[in-house]
Amino acid sequence: MSVKHVLITGCSRGIGLGLVKSFHDKGFKVIATCRNPGQAPALQELIKELNLEPPIALDVSNDEGIQSVFTQVKEKYKSIEVLVNNAGISTSNHPDDPPGQLDRKEMDKVLSVNVSSVGMLTQSFLPIIRGSDGSPGKVIYISSLLGSIQLNTPKETNFYMSTSYRCSKAALNQLVKCFSLVQDQENMVHHLAVHPGHVQTDMGGSRGRKAPLQVEDVTPKIASLVDYLNQETNGQFVDYESKILPY
Ligand SMILES: NC(=O)c1ccc[n+]([C@@H]2O[C@H](COP(=O)([O-])OP(=O)(O)OC[C@H]3O[C@@H](n4cnc5c(N)ncnc54)[C@H](OP(=O)(O)O)[C@@H]3O)[C@@H](O)[C@H]2O)c1
Repeated sequence: MSVKHVLITGCSRGIGLGLVKSFHDKGFKVIATCRNPGQAPALQELIKELNLEPPIALDVSNDEGIQSVFTQVKEKYKSIEVLVNNAGISTSNHPDDPPGQLDRKEMDKVLSVNVSSVGMLTQSFLPIIRGSDGSPGKVIYISSLLGSIQLNTPKETNFYMSTSYRCSKAALNQLVKCFSLVQDQENMVHHLAVHPGHVQTDMGGSRGRKAPLQVEDVTPKIASLVDYLNQETNGQFVDYESKILPY
């Protein structure tokens, strides 16, 4: 059986770190990337424990860095089966970011990391995302329920507005939809936007909010979504248990 490679962004902590273990447990050869491997002790420990290749430095907001990692991965592995766009940020006052108190710098940064960087990274890697048996390659994007425009109602929203973050994940969902519509002989890749649940991480548990889910509750299920993603489900927005969500 051929080896399946998955490249994951933002593996230093939180959901990305959990995905390294879950994809490994699923039999994938994991290419773990993070901004600064030297300052990612939890990832280094996991890599040692699972006997994985050393992590690769990748800041998704740096185009030269993206090109350099693309070249390294192409030379070493030729192709990857799955790309997971996990790296993401929120504003420093997340989730208290209501209209009226938006900060241009903060908002631009969130949009840049959560949207433009994902677009640049994905389009760079597309030529080498291929199923090992000639089947389509797959890209999973860690989005958020907060990106759903339909679900942004007073009932669902409660008092946390997270405006900049919501805008970024709504735009990310549109990006997923755009990529999913480019299907030809050259680009046989399927794309899926995933809400990971409200998870206890630095982002999910910030400002005293207690998230109901732990990383290990959700990452095995997110890794299993590669089996759910196919021509029919291409372009969907689902939660970590494959329940379809409205854009
Ligand atoms: N936790 C939740 O409840 C929740 C809910 C919905 C969606 N999400 C999404 O899930 C994803 C992971 O979030 P998390 O909860 O695990 O948050 P987290 O614990 O804050 O981890 C974020 C990860 O993204 C990395 N990152 C940030 N900027 C980066 C950049 N420019 N280049 C490369 N890596 C970068 C961080 O690296 P450093 O360590 O270098 O900062 C870290 O590894 C995000 O896309 C987030 O929006 C989370």
